Amino acid sequence: MARALRKPQPAKPRFRGLIVPVAVVVLLVVGFAAAQLYFGRDDAGLESAARIGGPFTLVDQEGRAVSDKDLRGKWMLVYFGFTFCPDVCPTSLARNDDALELLGDKAEKVVPILISVDPERDTPEKMKDYVKFFSPRLIGLTGTPQQVAEVARAYRVYYAKAEQKEDGSYLIDHSALTYLMGPDGRFVQFFRGQAGPQEVADRLKQLL
Ligand code: NI
Repeated sequence: MARALRKPQPAKPRFRGLIVPVAVVVLLVVGFAAAQLYFGRDDAGLESAARIGGPFTLVDQEGRAVSDKDLRGKWMLVYFGFTFCPDVCPTSLARNDDALELLGDKAEKVVPILISVDPERDTPEKMKDYVKFFSPRLIGLTGTPQQVAEVARAYRVYYAKAEQKEDGSYLIDHSALTYLMGPDGRFVQFFRGQAGPQEVADRLKQLL
């Protein structure tokens, strides 16, 4: 009988029966996603840290070819910047040098390095004039645009020409971290621009 077939089924209890399994599934999915975010991010951070740095071949302020291998056995404080930078670069480079001053004799184990992100203007001669303003131990490295792009990529450094001014001069936007690399060439940690010389020196003392 048609009538009997159309008799409404007890829908509500059926839905009610679904509430618990659906809730369990939702909780599992949300919990899994949260765990991914929490633990996954940590893993990703460690993984990308392990990938900071790498081989490079550049030219120092005396015009000599320098590769990362030439610096093995020394700690490296690597900063990327450019000699025309009005404030951030000088501040960071001065901070790095002040930190090494605070280290005393131990500073001999550390090589402070400036790698130019402005290879078009930063010739070895320009770098020579610039680095001696900070410290006799500062090594200024530059290279072809391609060499610079490669080392910047290895260190995950961002840099880009800012808008050119009418007189043709320009600034370069760039990340301003200082990377501490171990004697084996591996990344140890970075220092932000805000870190003071004492903070950097204290950390280096622990490690050297
Ligand atoms: Ni700068």
